[in-house]
Amino acid sequence: MRIIAIAMTKGGVGKTTTAVNLSHGLALRGQRVLLVDADTQGQCAKALGVDKDVTLNEVLLGEATVLEAVTKARQNLDLLASDHRLTRAALAIARRERDGHLALAEALAPVAERYDTVVIDAAPGVDAVAVNVLGCADEVIAPVALTPAALAGVLDFVRHVERVARHNTRLDLRWILPTFHDQRTRTSAETLRQLQEHFGAKVCRSIRVNIELAEAFGWRQSIFEHAPRSRGAADYEAFIGTVAEADARRPELVGA
Ligand SMILES: Nc1ncnc2c1ncn2[C@@H]1O[C@H](COP(=O)(O)OP(=O)(O)OP(=O)(O)O)[C@@H](O)[C@H]1O
Ligand SMILES: [Mg+2]
Repeated sequence: MRIIAIAMTKGGVGKTTTAVNLSHGLALRGQRVLLVDADTQGQCAKALGVDKDVTLNEVLLGEATVLEAVTKARQNLDLLASDHRLTRAALAIARRERDGHLALAEALAPVAERYDTVVIDAAPGVDAVAVNVLGCADEVIAPVALTPAALAGVLDFVRHVERVARHNTRLDLRWILPTFHDQRTRTSAETLRQLQEHFGAKVCRSIRVNIELAEAFGWRQSIFEHAPRSRGAADYEAFIGTVAEADARRPELVGA
């Protein structure tokens, strides 16, 4: 089981959009995928039109097993949903005296054989759940909106990943995914150039601004269902190809 975290401390950069479309894209390629929503906003269930009473909160608190909490969202794609109740688990984890950063890893262990890939949609910020997401991941995909001053935010995030990597030595900041690429603006081109200068081959081909990616959410569909011939679908399909083809072998150290 390969665990991929979609994480970035800054909000609104395309984490959930990436998590939902990556999960469904991998499922369409025949992988058995579990999408874990680790955000109190509960956007993953909304994005896929799934209703679920038992959530990650209950799993983290030991009140339900992960098998009781997952629900089928699409063929090959299960969802472990979240909602505002996750705040309760976050507080309990923060109070744990030992191995607080491993609560999510422990919660997911029983389903290790059931899925090829687990994709975790992290919340913005650096709370106890966000640390748990990095605490259990093998790979991190960091979406970065191509806006002015984006680089400073990414460098902050890299330091955060490096701190968690002291406890989780498998953790690899594998890809920087530029999002909201607007080919008409110089800001997008300049920010992309800065990212490439700093992160080289970790920087994937970007996801362009595409209104259909936002509209798909309103229709409770992935981009492959809502608008399979859109630019958004083409960009995510190319990205999913990169993720699917890469083996999960841990390469160089984070930030090295
Ligand atoms: N490439 C894109 N083009 C146009 N709109 C997009 C694109 N990617 C995401 N969006 C829209 O931008 C908004 C923010 O995206 P998303 O929710 O994926 O970000 P996020 O990083 O998960 O946010 P948060 O930090 O609040 O969890 C959403 O309305 C989404 O539909
Ligand atoms: Mg989100």
